[in-house]
Amino acid sequence: MPTFLIPTGLFFGSILWAEIVRDLYHALAHHWTPLYRLHVWHHRVFRPDLSVATQEIYRQAHWYNDVPEALVMLSFSILFAFWAYFYQLPYHWLGWMGSLYTLSFLITAIARGLGIPNADELTDITHRPGAFTAIPQPWRVNRTYHWRHHFDNQKAYYSGTIALVDKLMGTALSLKGKTIAVTGASGSLGKSLLKYLQLQEAKVIALTSQSEPLSLEIAGNLRPVTTITWQVGQENALLDVLRSVDILILNHGVNFHQQRSPEAIAQSYQVNALSGWRLMELFFTTVKTNEDIARKEVWVNTSEAEANPAFSPLYELSKRSLGDIVTLRRLDAPCVVRKLILGPFKSNLNPVGVMSADWVAKQIVNLAQRDIRNIIVTINPLTFLLFPVKEFTQSLYFKLCTRKSLPNRETD
Ligand SMILES: NC(=O)c1ccc[n+]([C@@H]2O[C@H](COP(=O)([O-])OP(=O)(O)OC[C@H]3O[C@@H](n4cnc5c(N)ncnc54)[C@H](OP(=O)(O)O)[C@@H]3O)[C@@H](O)[C@H]2O)c1
Repeated sequence: MPTFLIPTGLFFGSILWAEIVRDLYHALAHHWTPLYRLHVWHHRVFRPDLSVATQEIYRQAHWYNDVPEALVMLSFSILFAFWAYFYQLPYHWLGWMGSLYTLSFLITAIARGLGIPNADELTDITHRPGAFTAIPQPWRVNRTYHWRHHFDNQKAYYSGTIALVDKLMGTALSLKGKTIAVTGASGSLGKSLLKYLQLQEAKVIALTSQSEPLSLEIAGNLRPVTTITWQVGQENALLDVLRSVDILILNHGVNFHQQRSPEAIAQSYQVNALSGWRLMELFFTTVKTNEDIARKEVWVNTSEAEANPAFSPLYELSKRSLGDIVTLRRLDAPCVVRKLILGPFKSNLNPVGVMSADWVAKQIVNLAQRDIRNIIVTINPLTFLLFPVKEFTQSLYFKLCTRKSLPNRETD
């Protein structure tokens, strides 16, 4: 084993351990009443714009919440250091890094509790008021990420610095109470997505090109679902609906197997690429407030045809175009944009698909709750290798060769 591995592991491992302890303690505080009685002080402090209700509550909250939390982290980080010492690991003294790291939180929490001037501005960075300048980050907890713990769902978004515990617990995105609209709603995946999202307590809206209202079969019962009819080419008519939508899932698509006529080319691009792009841009214009930046998302079903052959050239061309546009536009997107990279599942569009739409939808929901930005569900192992490389290099290329575009917000 290379000699640097153990010291590096001890250094970073002890810090990561302290962070894991912090996040588990936080999650426990939301599920165990005696701890919640202390923790609730922290939740009393902030208004939705993250301004402080009163300085007195702010200071009290540190004695009841932040200081005990730092002490718990410190105790467990000392255990880590003893463990490294007990097993006489090389450079075992590096196991104390987590305790040093934790001490910095304890000292700053005490400083804030004492009301030392500017201690809050310098050290309480996830609770600073003001306009959000970034969307929730996938790994580093920023203000926008943490705002959702206070004002979206207090039983989610527990992580304080690194989003690892939220990813493992499936609390990195809460769907509860979110209004989620799905296009291609009458299709196989559309229906399955609506079902699994509703099971997560989301309020779902079916966007369909059919005129009939849709129902979902859940546990043997048919449940009607809010249905809105739209047509490709008339995306602007959905603006009012999109204002009230938290998550828009672009899922409609066609596959003109074996065709290469001008009509098939036009339809493929209209349905698979251009209408999805237009809806995404329209949705972006509805992202205006801090709350929108924190809560709104677009999920785009581009297919693994982005990276692999689908034995249907027009499908590949149009889906790759959509995928490329999403890669380009999400460099400046005002909200989170996820891609759904799916392998073959059985549906009208692909009667020989091997996975079931239900299983695929369940995986999508599960991975989204872990805040995975490129959700890959497939039986093809190559996609797990090829797609991330393609996405990373293409995104870098697009970033280097284009200039930042300012958000295009609808005017009131
Ligand atoms: N099946 C696969 O193997 C596979 C693999 C990767 C990705 N995908 C993608 O997954 C998505 C869902 O496909 P699916 O497999 O569930 O197929 P599906 O059952 O055929 O559903 C596709 C839906 O797209 C909508 N649509 C089709 N033509 C349209 C048009 N001209 N205008 C507006 N909407 C139209 C229809 O829904 P409404 O009638 O409700 O509008 C249709 O039911 C598609 O984007 C597809 O490309 C599929």
